[in-house]
Amino acid sequence: MSTTPLVGILIGSKSDWETMSHCAKTLGQLGIPYEAQVASAHRTPEKVIAFCRDAEARGVRIIIAAAGGAAHLAGFCAGQTHLPVLGVPMQGWSLDGIDSLLSTVQMPAGIPVGTLAIGKAGAVNSAVLAGSILALSHPEIRGKLLAFRQAQREAGETPQDLTI
Ligand code: RP5
Repeated sequence: MSTTPLVGILIGSKSDWETMSHCAKTLGQLGIPYEAQVASAHRTPEKVIAFCRDAEARGVRIIIAAAGGAAHLAGFCAGQTHLPVLGVPMQGWSLDGIDSLLSTVQMPAGIPVGTLAIGKAGAVNSAVLAGSILALSHPEIRGKLLAFRQAQREAGETPQDLTI
């Protein structure tokens, strides 16, 4: 497997990693090389700009951005690159992630952020969706994605708690 990252994960804070480690784990299951960095749209905007500006040249094809609260990180990324940007709203704080969801999803027409569910489900699904996009041009990822989906199908059909 090539180690050139195809996916770039950005998290607004180290505190987001507990959730986004599920994204990284799922990318690993799909055989998708990734890089991950902490960079904040409000604390370290220059770092976000540099990450997005050089992403395509590094081999990155999809950016996954996760932030919470006033979560403008994914939209900030999308404004600086034509690469697909997937946004994962983090759960927590006074509005339990609804603030993160709305800040991430409500982009004006022309600069999209493909927004996933709040929290762990969104973290996992950002990786699976990245896998679906990359599967269009990477046969080895397509194979792993189909196996991943088949394994879910089988797990759903096996009543684990009824096995003798
Ligand atoms: C956002 O604020 C981060 O993405 C994080 O989800 C949230 C809280 O950050 P910390 O105060 O934990 O660093 O920028």
